[in-house]
Amino acid sequence: MITAVVYAESGGTFKTTMTANLAVALSRMDLDVLVLDLDPQTGNLTSLFDVGEDRSDPNADNLVKHILEMPDGDFASLIETSPEGVDIVPSHDMLSDFTSNLEQKITYETGVKDVSREEYPRYELLYRLLWEREQVNEQYDVVLIDPNARAEDLLYNAMYALRTLVAPVKPAGKGSLSLDGLEEMVGNMETELDIGVGLSCVVPCGVGQTNAHKQYRDRFETTDAFATPVSIGSRESLMDAMWEAHGSAFKVIEERWKTYEGDDGMVSERGKRRVPDRELETLETIWRLAGFIATDTFDATVPEELVLDIVDDGTETLQMAGNGHPEVAD
Ligand SMILES: Nc1ncnc2c1ncn2[C@@H]1O[C@H](COP(=O)(O)OP(=O)(O)OP(=O)(O)O)[C@@H](O)[C@H]1O
Ligand SMILES: [Mg+2]
Repeated sequence: MITAVVYAESGGTFKTTMTANLAVALSRMDLDVLVLDLDPQTGNLTSLFDVGEDRSDPNADNLVKHILEMPDGDFASLIETSPEGVDIVPSHDMLSDFTSNLEQKITYETGVKDVSREEYPRYELLYRLLWEREQVNEQYDVVLIDPNARAEDLLYNAMYALRTLVAPVKPAGKGSLSLDGLEEMVGNMETELDIGVGLSCVVPCGVGQTNAHKQYRDRFETTDAFATPVSIGSRESLMDAMWEAHGSAFKVIEERWKTYEGDDGMVSERGKRRVPDRELETLETIWRLAGFIATDTFDATVPEELVLDIVDDGTETLQMAGNGHPEVAD
């Protein structure tokens, strides 16, 4: 079983983009992938994949009701399958009020049972849902979580359930600061949850051509503190197109989605993108990252190659071994 929470403390480090791309890469390795979206904010994985129609309906069954053991239906009916074959438990507005709903449950439970508030296992609820009540390991090979941004109940439930972290980081003036911050964050989670948290890898994302960015990437790639198997270049055009294609960077390239200025504003269309080599390199980098997580962190066996079928433009083959060259910027 491959399980990972995609998280780094600072906001906007391309977590949702990375979760979506890893989910699709792993699914194209013939693995059955389930992704949980725990982020109630707009611009989340649910809107990226265009699922979760009922996310604002307070009466609709949703993940929070299942975590808190008051479901309105089967867990299986929460799951939606994206056209790329990834299963998703979409976000719901109730995730924003998770802590207050949890507090109510704890008040009730401590009232009727012989447990104190302190003893109540508030961070173990998602673990119990996934592995004890639903046994998702029987149906899936991979579970990924795109958590909410704040370090609170939901994030801790995600970490307690999945135990492994993939940390995308973004170049900023303070590369070494975020290195220290990561170690501290993992340490804090371990103390708070009383479990071992494995840091699978750190992935610098959005690395441009400036010296500052290159130095930042080098600092991460040369540290012994954790693995940095790849870094991902600055790829705004490719990654932004994912939100129009409602799918991964693999979909953007194979279906050749392009966003451009039309007569009535911006339009997005299939079959229009000219795919530059650097974008194919980025896909290969994502393929290798998924391979690293599957093999190095979880000892799975995965295919070496992925053949892309590009609309009206033949095929391209991505290799797991890669050529080892750092990516060039947009
Ligand atoms: N490698 C990249 N280079 C440049 N831009 C990128 C890259 N990856 C993603 N982006 C763009 O950055 C924006 C933010 O990405 P994303 O939503 O994945 O971040 P996030 O960490 O999930 O943010 P939040 O903290 O709000 O959840 C998106 O518009 C996305 O298309
Ligand atoms: Mg996000």
